[in-house]
Amino acid sequence: MVRQDPTHWQVLHLLKEQGNDFLSGTILASRLGLTRTAVWKHIQNLRGMGYDIQSHSKEGYRLLNVPDLLIPEEIVPGLKTRWLGRSYHHFPRISSTNDHALLLAAQGAPHGTVVVAEEQTHGRGRLKREWLSVSQKGIYFSILLRTPLPVQIASQTTLVVALALAKVIRNRYHLASSIKWPNDILVHHKKVAGILTEIQSDMDLTRFQVIGVGVNANYSEAELAGPFRYPASSLAIEMGSSIKRQELLLDFFHQFEEEYSRFIQEGFVDLLTELERYSAVLGRVIKILQGEEEIEGKALGFTPEGALRLLTKDRGVQIIWVGDVTRVGEMYSPQVGNGAAEG
Ligand code: BTN
Repeated sequence: MVRQDPTHWQVLHLLKEQGNDFLSGTILASRLGLTRTAVWKHIQNLRGMGYDIQSHSKEGYRLLNVPDLLIPEEIVPGLKTRWLGRSYHHFPRISSTNDHALLLAAQGAPHGTVVVAEEQTHGRGRLKREWLSVSQKGIYFSILLRTPLPVQIASQTTLVVALALAKVIRNRYHLASSIKWPNDILVHHKKVAGILTEIQSDMDLTRFQVIGVGVNANYSEAELAGPFRYPASSLAIEMGSSIKRQELLLDFFHQFEEEYSRFIQEGFVDLLTELERYSAVLGRVIKILQGEEEIEGKALGFTPEGALRLLTKDRGVQIIWVGDVTRVGEMYSPQVGNGAAEG
């Protein structure tokens, strides 16, 4: 991990403390025990990282704008969480945040550790697909969770993450986000985020889970030209203007910590009603890929464990634990048809 000289951050800290006012180069230099030339070099380095710093021959320096980087210096002071992200690892570029989080997990990293990257060279999606991870266009991060949970219950965590993310997108951007069971977030029927959960267990109990989240934040339509298995979009496209990744990440950490605590304390059933409200599939005819087989049916509801109840033509009601929803089709009327009303 390439880290900048910590003196940069001290210079930045003092500029931030000053708010909209100028801070003279002489004061900066004396407070940090530096020469004015050294201060100027640190200012140049911060500018190189994207910090917009105005300089004035008499008044000194003033911070105008911070870059939308997910570096700890910008994220950690804004955390409203108790345990999530308190161990925070940031990389300008990495192969995959999930891979690194798995490595940290094996080395004993604590519950709530977060790995974030501006860019991934081998970003992974589900079913061994590639996850587009262009520098600063998306948000790519992984969370390490160490709550020992029965394996079947642990898989519900993906839905807890999805709920937190869908809520944040609705609350902050007023976009009608929904959850394409079990791990995708849609806006206007297009995928804007995906979740990849990797679990390590001893017998029936999880040792840890790594939850990887990729959000298409500021991609343009041209950059998302595909091909993708499911139509893709970004929050910027749906909003009509770019979004601040720092805000989204901080909101998410806060929301997820709350939802996860609720999940652990009250159980999954407590979240079911909200999950149904955010669902992109309930009440619709959908297609699910399971291995080589594609099953079509009506999405009736969820079981208390978070599996999907699907009414198929030839096999009646099926309980689907895993699968990839490849098509979300038309709404069906619960009144009409063979048994759909039971959902
Ligand atoms: C999917 O929809 O298939 C899941 C995509 C998950 C992508 C994220 S980006 C951060 C983390 N690191 C990875 O390599 N993958 C996940």
